Amino acid sequence: MWHVLLFFAILVQAIDSTNQKRNFTIDYKRNTFLKDGQPFRYVSGSIHYFRVPSELWKDRLQRLRAMGANVLQTYVEWNSHEPQQGQYRFLGQNNVTQFVIEAQKQGLLVILRPGPYIEAERDFGGLPYWLLREDPKMKLRTSSPQYLRHVDNWFGKLLPKLQPLLYQNGGPIIMVQVENEYGSYYACDHNYTQHLTNTIRHHLGPEILLFTTDGYSLPRLRCGKIPNVYATVDFGSNVAADAAFAIQKKIEPHGPSVNSEFYPGWLDHWGYPHQRRSSNAIIDSLKQQLQLGANVNIYVAHGGTSFGFRAGADLSPQSVYQPCPTSYDYDSPISENGILRPKYFNIRKLIQNYTGKAPDPPAQPVVVAYGKVNLTESVQLLEAIQFSKVIISKQPLTFEQMGQDYGFLLYEHQVTFITPDPVLLRAYGVRDRAYVMVNGQTQGILSRGERIYRIPLQINKGDRLQILVENQGRVCFGNFLNDIKGIISPVFLNNRQLLNWNQTSILLNSSQLDYFMTKLKPVTKESISAPRFFRGTFQAQTKSDTFLRLDGWSRGVAFLNGFNLGRYWPRHGPQMTLYVPGVLMQATNRLILMELEQAGCDRSDTLCQVTLTDSPILDGPTPYS
Ligand SMILES: *[C@@H]1O[C@H](CO)[C@@H](O)[C@H](O)[C@H]1NC(C)=O
Ligand SMILES: *[C@@H]1O[C@H](CO)[C@@H](O)[C@H](O)[C@H]1NC(C)=O
Ligand SMILES: *[C@@H]1O[C@H](CO)[C@@H](O)[C@H](O)[C@H]1NC(C)=O
Ligand SMILES: *[C@@H]1O[C@H](CO)[C@@H](O)[C@H](O)[C@H]1NC(C)=O
Ligand SMILES: *[C@@H]1O[C@H](CO)[C@@H](O)[C@H](O)[C@H]1NC(C)=O
Repeated sequence: MWHVLLFFAILVQAIDSTNQKRNFTIDYKRNTFLKDGQPFRYVSGSIHYFRVPSELWKDRLQRLRAMGANVLQTYVEWNSHEPQQGQYRFLGQNNVTQFVIEAQKQGLLVILRPGPYIEAERDFGGLPYWLLREDPKMKLRTSSPQYLRHVDNWFGKLLPKLQPLLYQNGGPIIMVQVENEYGSYYACDHNYTQHLTNTIRHHLGPEILLFTTDGYSLPRLRCGKIPNVYATVDFGSNVAADAAFAIQKKIEPHGPSVNSEFYPGWLDHWGYPHQRRSSNAIIDSLKQQLQLGANVNIYVAHGGTSFGFRAGADLSPQSVYQPCPTSYDYDSPISENGILRPKYFNIRKLIQNYTGKAPDPPAQPVVVAYGKVNLTESVQLLEAIQFSKVIISKQPLTFEQMGQDYGFLLYEHQVTFITPDPVLLRAYGVRDRAYVMVNGQTQGILSRGERIYRIPLQINKGDRLQILVENQGRVCFGNFLNDIKGIISPVFLNNRQLLNWNQTSILLNSSQLDYFMTKLKPVTKESISAPRFFRGTFQAQTKSDTFLRLDGWSRGVAFLNGFNLGRYWPRHGPQMTLYVPGVLMQATNRLILMELEQAGCDRSDTLCQVTLTDSPILDGPTPYS
C-alpha cells in the first residue's frame, strides 16, 4: 500500500515538474519577487553593450558576476539599431541578443530597458535623429500618432528578437522596463505609456513582468505609474533609503522595494570637475537598502565609453548647454578599461551575503604605455574636403535637413556687399560650436556652451565666410529634447542677412576618412594651422589597452585604425586621455587626429607628438566648478 502511494507521489511530482513553467512574478503579500515560486532578491548592475566593444562583452559581464551581482541591467539604444529610418542594424556591436545570451552564460539574469527613450547621457537620449528630420517639432515621448508610428515599427523589429530570451521561454530576461523616468518629462501622457505597455505585451506576451522607474518623488511617480506595471524608484547615496522606499510604497503599497538606479559615481560634463563618490558612502547606503529588504541595481557597474559622436548633452536648470565627455567611466566599481576599484571589492564583500557566493574576480586588465607617436603627415581640413558633395540653399540647412546624424557641417557664403571694418557676425542659431573662418583662416569661435554667438570680423565683398559647425551631442534629458543641429536660424553681418549657402557634410565615417587621407603630405612649419588632420603610425607587439594623452593639443576627434575613439578636449577638461581598447591594436597602427584649434606641435622642429600611456587622467583642470 505505502509503496503504491509513494509511487503515485513520485509520478505526480514528475508530471508536475514537466508541466511547471519557469516563471518570474511578484508576491504582493510577502513583498518580494518570486522566481519559480521561490522568493528572489537581486543586486544587479548596469552595463551598456553600446559602450563596450563587443569583443569585451564577455570580460565585462564576468567582472559584473564576480562582483556578486546576480542580474545584468541594460538599455537598448534605438538610434544605433536604426541609424536611418527603416535601416536596421543587429550585427556585431549591435547584436543585443548576443549580449543577453552572453550574460546568461556568465550566470546572470537580465533586466531589459528598451526605452524607446533611454537618456543614458547618449545623443538624443537614444532616439534616432531622423525623427527630427521628419519634423523638428515632433511631439516626442507622447501619444502623437506621428511619433508612435515609428516607435511601433521599431518595437515590432526589436521585441520579437528578444521574446525567445524571456525567462519563461528559457532565457535570462526576467523584467522589462517601460519608457524611462517618464515622470520627469513634462508631457505626463498616460495614453502614451499605456500604448507602449500594450505594444510590449503584444510582442512579449502577457506573462512578462513590466516595471517603470522614476525619481523618488510623488509627482514623478504619479506621472510615471502605469496600471498593472510595477513602479520602482531610483536614488543615490545622498538620499535616505527608508524615505525613498516609503515614497515608492505610496504608489505601490504591496510588493518589493526596488532602487532601479543606485549611483556608485556620477556623470561628467566637459568643462566641469570630474565626479567621484566615495566607497564608504556607497557601502553605507547599499547596506541600508539591503537591510530594508530592497532589490538594488547599481547604475552603472561599468560605464564604458561613448565612442564616436555618441555622447549626449544636458541643459542645466539655467538652460546652459553642457555636453558629456567621451569617457563614461562614472567612477563606477569597474573602471572604463575594466579595472576593479576598491569599491568593487567592498560591494562584493557586502552583497554576497544576499546573492550567494560569487566567482573569483578576473585579473586586473593589462595596460601598456606604448610611448610617443610622431604625427608626421597632415592635410588641412578645407583641402581634404575639396571635391566633396556640396548642397546649395538659400538659408543655412540643419544637420537634419541634410540627412546627417553626427559630425560636422561646413557652411560657406561669399559676401556680396561692401562691409564696415570690422563688422559683427551674428549667428544665434549655432548648434553647438562653430569655427569661423575667412578665406580659410580661423578668426574665432562661437559656442552654445559658452553662449557666445557674435564676433567682430574683417571680411569684405568677395571674401569667403566659412563656418565649420560641430554637433557636440543632442540633449538627452529634460523637456527640450527637440535639439536640432547645425545653423538653425538666419546669419547676419551687422543687420544684413546672409543668403545663399554651400553646405558640405563632414561625417568622418571610415570611407570619407580614407578619402581625406589620400591627400596627406609631410608636416612642415607652414602646415600646422588648424583645423587639420594629422596622421602617424606606430608598431605594437601586443593587443593591450592603452590611453591616448593629448598634452598640447586642444580639441578634436581621434581615430585608431579607422575606429572613432571619440572627442578630445584637454583644453577644457576634465577628461585628458582617451581610452584605446587593445582589441583595436594591430602590428602597424594608424592614428589620426582631426585637430580643430591648436596642434600639439613643437614649432621649432615641427615635431607633432602624442603619447600612449598606461593610466587615464579623467580629472584634469576645468574652467567651471
Ligand atoms: C511558477 O513556478 C513554480 C515552480 O516551478 C510553480 O509551482 C508555479 O505553479 C508556477 N506558477 C505559474 C503561474 O506558472
Ligand atoms: C546575434 O547573435 C546570435 C547569438 O550568437 C546569433 O544567433 C545571431 O545570428 C546574431 N545576429 C546577427 C544579426 O548577426
Ligand atoms: C487620451 O485618450 C483619451 C481617449 O481616447 C482622449 O480622450 C484623451 O484626450 C487622450 N489624452 C491625450 C493626452 O492624448
Ligand atoms: C546578511 O544578511 C542578513 C539578512 O538580510 C542581515 O541580517 C545581516 O546583517 C547581513 N550581514 C552582513 C554582514 O551584512
Ligand atoms: C619622432 O621623431 C623624432 C625626430 O625625428 C625622433 O627623434 C624620434 O625617434 C621619433 N619617435 C618615434 C617614436 O618614432
